[in-house]
Amino acid sequence: MSTVLVIKAHPKTTDVSNSVVIGDRFVKAYQAEHPEDNLIFHDLYEEGVPEINSTNLDSWKKLTNGETYQNLSENEQILLSRQQQLQEQFIHADKYVFVSPMYNLFLPNRLKMYLDLVVVSTKTWVEGEHGPKGTLQGKKALHIQSSGGTYHHTDNEFMAKLDVGDGYLKMLLGQVGVKDYQGIYCEGNSHRDPDDMAANRELVAQEAEKVAKTF
Ligand SMILES: Cc1cc2nc3c(=O)[nH]c(=O)nc-3n(C[C@H](O)[C@H](O)[C@H](O)COP(=O)(O)O)c2cc1C
Repeated sequence: MSTVLVIKAHPKTTDVSNSVVIGDRFVKAYQAEHPEDNLIFHDLYEEGVPEINSTNLDSWKKLTNGETYQNLSENEQILLSRQQQLQEQFIHADKYVFVSPMYNLFLPNRLKMYLDLVVVSTKTWVEGEHGPKGTLQGKKALHIQSSGGTYHHTDNEFMAKLDVGDGYLKMLLGQVGVKDYQGIYCEGNSHRDPDDMAANRELVAQEAEKVAKTF
């Protein structure tokens, strides 16, 4: 049995979200194919993500300097326990599914905030002889991303270099040991009329259902 962490990072809008629809289709197909697996869901815009601020940084320092958890303030304890819960889930998951739109060539800010909480020195990576060494070996990740422009389904080398967010996610996960990474991209939405957008979304959703069988 595998544990799959499904991280949705899309703010709610009244429009149909391509990435969310495709993510949901992936999840349904995955559950049908792997009924024994345990799926854990996070909706980062619904739940919120604790930001790294002076309270967290100070409480981390206090703990490093030997302070006990009980002696921290209530606010510090709340932040730390939420962070620890997210970290434990991240470390113990076998598979990761990230669902997000592209914002300014990058990931939505809540996804970056989440990554800042769960990717931490000594837990997900350690200092190795030749640089950081990931501790999360043998796991796999999928990024389902929607964008206005086309970065992957194109021969345009300039555009291909601009998807910084997806490249960053792949690199960061690789650094913690998650080397098996694949993307499903619903692209070109800024240039599509509603019918074309729906048709393309359906095609990408079918691709996602296919990937779900072997992921
Ligand atoms: C704040 C903001 C920034 C965006 N930046 C980009 C961008 O840099 N490149 C791009 O191709 N699309 C960009 N878009 C367009 C979205 O990625 C696109 O509309 C996508 O389809 C939204 O995801 P959804 O279809 O899942 O809702 C941006 C949209 C917003 C709201």
